[in-house]
Amino acid sequence: MENSLLVLVLAAGESKRMKSNHSKVCMKIAGKPMINWVLSTSFSLEPESVGVVLGHKMEEVEETIKEFPVKVLVQRKLLGTADAVRSARSFLEGFPNSDVLILYGDVPLISKDTLMTLITRHSKEKNSVTILSARMDDPTGYGRIVKDEMGNFLRIVEEADATEEEKRITETNSGIYVFKVKELLKALTKIRNDNAQGEYYLTDVVSLIDGKMGIFETSNPSEVVGINTRLQLAMVNELVRREINEKLMYNGVEIIDPKSTYIDVDVEIGKDTVIYPMTFITSGTYIGEECSIGPNTLIDKCKIGDNVQVRYSVCESATISEGVSVGPFSHLRPGADLRKDVKVGNFVEVKKSVLDERTKAMHLSYLGDSTIGREVNIGAGTITCNYDGKRKNKTFIGDNAFIGSNTALVAPVSVGKGALIGAGSVITKDVPEDALALGRARQINKLGWAKAKREEEQHDR
Ligand code: UD1
Ligand code: CA
Repeated sequence: MENSLLVLVLAAGESKRMKSNHSKVCMKIAGKPMINWVLSTSFSLEPESVGVVLGHKMEEVEETIKEFPVKVLVQRKLLGTADAVRSARSFLEGFPNSDVLILYGDVPLISKDTLMTLITRHSKEKNSVTILSARMDDPTGYGRIVKDEMGNFLRIVEEADATEEEKRITETNSGIYVFKVKELLKALTKIRNDNAQGEYYLTDVVSLIDGKMGIFETSNPSEVVGINTRLQLAMVNELVRREINEKLMYNGVEIIDPKSTYIDVDVEIGKDTVIYPMTFITSGTYIGEECSIGPNTLIDKCKIGDNVQVRYSVCESATISEGVSVGPFSHLRPGADLRKDVKVGNFVEVKKSVLDERTKAMHLSYLGDSTIGREVNIGAGTITCNYDGKRKNKTFIGDNAFIGSNTALVAPVSVGKGALIGAGSVITKDVPEDALALGRARQINKLGWAKAKREEEQHDR
């Protein structure tokens, strides 16, 4: 590109139609905030600088976009899209010979390819402004592109200001434009707010620009859907979800029922892995090949190796190595690290603990803040008592140890390699290697006692 390019993202609006306490640009599409979709695409164009206009719920939005090196510009009063651009005046004045691509924070699906085509046209045609338009089956809510009989652009009319005839126009304004910065700054001084909403419309600026103007109609109207309502948010999520699932299936992942499978952006899944219905997989998750995940499972930011099975379970920020089996009904919490061929089963909760190779915890356990060796058998109902009311304490269990059912391991405590703990023990002291530990009341059998008691009761009646 000869001219340098700026990007300006408008995201100060009030999100009235969302009926929310939050800014809509922070609402997520496939796990990623709407505005971050726009910013990722903006930066993929390698512009000179990216400015973001913020206003409503500004702190929340700033926090959401903190990974992007943007220039934050503040719109004090939310007087409309042209006023938002006016708030970026000092930013724009720094680049008088550049072009600026304007994007709306609530139009998240726009692609790099479409933007590249728009920008190329703009500079080839030497336009002062180029609008991206889209033909919509249902144009309700969008600004319409009004042309004369010859097809020349006249103006953009907002839905609220449109006549019945204008409402029938299906070519809509995407809210995406490229301007010559110099011409944009000039036109902004002429803008007025005598319209149905009493706002300063950026769409009016287009008609006030000196010099050539162009319109480029995208062949991909689904890329420019704007999100103003919860309904539109859900519809866009559905669209993106379908695309994500299709891409995964194309790459060899088996999804039994794509309609009930919810996979965020930035999830990697290896081939021949099968995803069962009602499974949710969040951004930042990696799953290997030949796995079986679900049904009814949440995988939240986990690293999962090959040949892993997870059924009816919740796994959060866990590392699950090759050959591991999880569930049904397990809960892996952050820091759970299950090494090769580990088995964790019914109603077992694991937090911040390593279970080394081939260790099993199959029933009703809580394992927290513990380091557990290889081939350990954790009996049903084993609990690490890690919390003393003040601190979280650690439990160590050596390789090949056998922890009898219903053992309470009162941390800090360590159980040596090959040690055996009798069922029902409360272990408060370290257990040496290869020892047997019994920490429970000795059993007493009183012969005939039960029978005598019964007879006494009979007699009393
Ligand atoms: C806008 C366009 C409309 C277009 C549609 C495409 C105008 C006047 N209308 O309408 O032609 O078809 O987008 O989706 O531009 N914003 C600010 N400050 C403000 C007002 C809005 O930063 O004072 C931001 C919002 O956060 C939002 C964007 O600008 O990201 C668009 O605002 P919105 O109110 O949603 O405009 P629409 O009515 O959708
Ligand atoms: Ca909008």
